[in-house]
This record gives sequence, C-alpha cells and structure tokens, in this order.
Amino acid sequence: MADDGGRHRQSRLFTDDDGGFDAERAREESLPVEDGEVIDTDELADHQTYLEGRGIYDERNRVNDLTGKEWKYATKSVIAEGYPPALQHDLRGEHGGQKPPRLCAELIGRFSKAGDTVLDPFAGVGGTLLGASVCEHEGTGLREAIGFERTRRWVEIYETALVRENEERRERGDPPLAEQDMRHGDCADLIEEVPDDSIDLLLTDVPYWHMDELEQTRNERRTRESSLGSFGGRDADGVDDESDDEPGAESRREWETDGEWETKADWLDDMATKFDRFTDAVAPDGHVVVFIGDMYRDQSYEFLSAELAQAIEAAAPLTLAATLIWYDPTKDLHVYGYPFSFVPSMVHQNVLVFRPADDSDAN
Ligand SMILES: C[S@@+](CC[C@H](N)C(=O)[O-])C[C@H]1O[C@@H](n2cnc3c(N)ncnc32)[C@H](O)[C@@H]1O
Repeated sequence: MADDGGRHRQSRLFTDDDGGFDAERAREESLPVEDGEVIDTDELADHQTYLEGRGIYDERNRVNDLTGKEWKYATKSVIAEGYPPALQHDLRGEHGGQKPPRLCAELIGRFSKAGDTVLDPFAGVGGTLLGASVCEHEGTGLREAIGFERTRRWVEIYETALVRENEERRERGDPPLAEQDMRHGDCADLIEEVPDDSIDLLLTDVPYWHMDELEQTRNERRTRESSLGSFGGRDADGVDDESDDEPGAESRREWETDGEWETKADWLDDMATKFDRFTDAVAPDGHVVVFIGDMYRDQSYEFLSAELAQAIEAAAPLTLAATLIWYDPTKDLHVYGYPFSFVPSMVHQNVLVFRPADDSDAN
C-alpha cells in the first residue's frame, strides 16, 4: 500500500477492537487529540482552537460548527443508521411520512451553525423543527427553524408532540426543547414573508408525485401472490422503528397522494418552480438539502432523486454538491418479484445537497 504520509496513523493511539479510531475513548481521556495524535495546543494557528474531546475547530469554518475530525466523519456519503422511535413518534406517526428528528439534527449539524436559521417549506409534523431544537442539547447549539405546512392536522400534531415531549423532559429533569415557528399555509404564499438571503439551511422532504394508486396496488398484490411474501412484517427485534413508515418503492399511503399533480412531469415542474422561489430566501453561503426516495413502478425503477435534482438545477440557481444516502438497516426486506424478476427492497433514501450556484469558492 502506498505511504499516505501518515493519514492512517489515527489508529495508533486510540483504537477500538476493529482497529478504527476510538473517539469515545479519546473523549473520555480528554487528551488534546487530532487525527489520532496528541497535539501541542501551543502550536495551533491563530484561527484554530482546541475543543476538549472534539478536536481542532477552525474559526474560518462557515459551513458548520464541526472540528476537523468531526467534519471528516461528516463527509461520509452514507448515513447508515436506523432511528428508534423517539420524540412522540406514536403521535407523529399519524403522518406516515415523518422524518426522524435526530436524522434531521444530524444534517442540520453538518450544514449549519448554532444560531442559524433553518427553513422547511414542507414541514409535515415537524421532523426538521424538532431536529433544530434537539441541536441545542445534543449538538452544537440551537437553530431557529421555520416550517410551512398546509394541512392543519400536521401543524397541530407538531405542537402537541412538542408539549408532550417537554412534559416528559421536565419529569426527567431535562431542559425543554425550544418551540419553533411552524406556520400553517401554502408554502408558495408563505415564502413571500421570508426575507431574501435570511435562511442558512433549507432542509425538507418533498411531497410525492401522485402515482397511479390503483394500478400500483394491483401490481403489488400480483407480485406478492407470486412470491414468498415479506420477510416478516416487523424488524428482527420486533420493534416498530421510527423510520418504518418512510416512503419506499413498495407502498403508497394516503399522505403521499395529497399532491395536485397529474403526471410526474407536472410534479417535477412544480417542485422546480417552488425551489427556484425558495432559493431567493437562502443566503449565498447556505445550503438546500432535500430528502427524496426513489420508487419502483410497473417493472421499472423511477429514479426520482436524479430527475428532481436535474429539474431543480435547471430551474433554480442551485448547484448539486452531493447526494447522500440515508441507509436504514432496520427496514424490512421484501421478495416482490421472486423468483422471476428483481425488485429492490428500498432500504435507503437520497438526500440531495445543493449550494447556491454563485458560491464558487468551495471545491
Ligand atoms: C414528505 S411530507 C414532510 C414530512 C416531514 N419531513 C416530517 O418530518 O413530518 C411533505 C409535506 O408537505 C406538505 N405539503 C405539500 N404541499 C404543500 C404546500 N404547497 N405547502 C405547504 N405544505 C405542503 C404535505 O401536507 C406533507 O405534510
């Protein structure tokens, strides 16, 4: 193997059983460690600060509050984590398309700084808003969050979930989660109230294109009858995980059909137009981060993430910087199509990451 100039030396001081960097142990011992080496804090540059247990923070960091070590970890293009039910999941589960707040907090931590403002124009029951509040206690600090949601019921669920969660936190002696600014209405109208360049991170989960439900259901039944069926309706541990209700290729649910789009092209046009307008609100060094699951339909894969990315890039002054994968290892596998045709078990969703197009200094 080529000598990499010491890049792999990080395993020398703190290694776990697999030989990887043991950040936990480094933190416990509170030594000034960066990249596996104990460092001399007197030798840091003026723009560098050593943060105990976390590594070196570079004051020039405009993207997030992560130290170099944390940043490196955060560049991983796959987030491989199932999120157990939390933060009033039973209540929020009525929505069916809700995102785990801790997954949102993870992305908020990668793409914003404490005190920044996050917007979710398709807020649902508030995964993004709760994530922004969680950042105060489990991240580098509170983010202000604004959510738009046009279904009153989802707004009410967010509000009730926050109240209940804070009651439980008080009983446990934990500080309450901050209430965020959830606004009821259509995002096309509400975005007009948001000043230009005032949003540091737009994090959202788009409403889905209105698929031909009947046909889909019929196909599912047919494939299921010719197969072994699902490998169990629940996860191996029997737990109904936070993310079990996420949209996948196999099932369409009521919440996904609330769109007004007749065809996929209509949906793409509408999303592109909306993101073009949303982008005015995003600061030049901000980010736009979009969850989107692909689908399987009529024996063919609908590469919605790629199509949406292209449509948004063509319409809005945004550049695609990355597509991350959220891989949920707890999701059920299916054998639709077995043994005649390969049908993927969708255990991932895509997370499109855009930057305003004129943010040309990052490379
Ligand atoms: C995929 S869900 C978002 C779920 C959310 N991430 C959560 O954690 O609950 C999309 C949401 O967008 C809402 N929506 C769709 N079109 C909208 C519009 N024009 N204005 C505001 N909300 C809209 C839907 O009611 C739905 O709740």
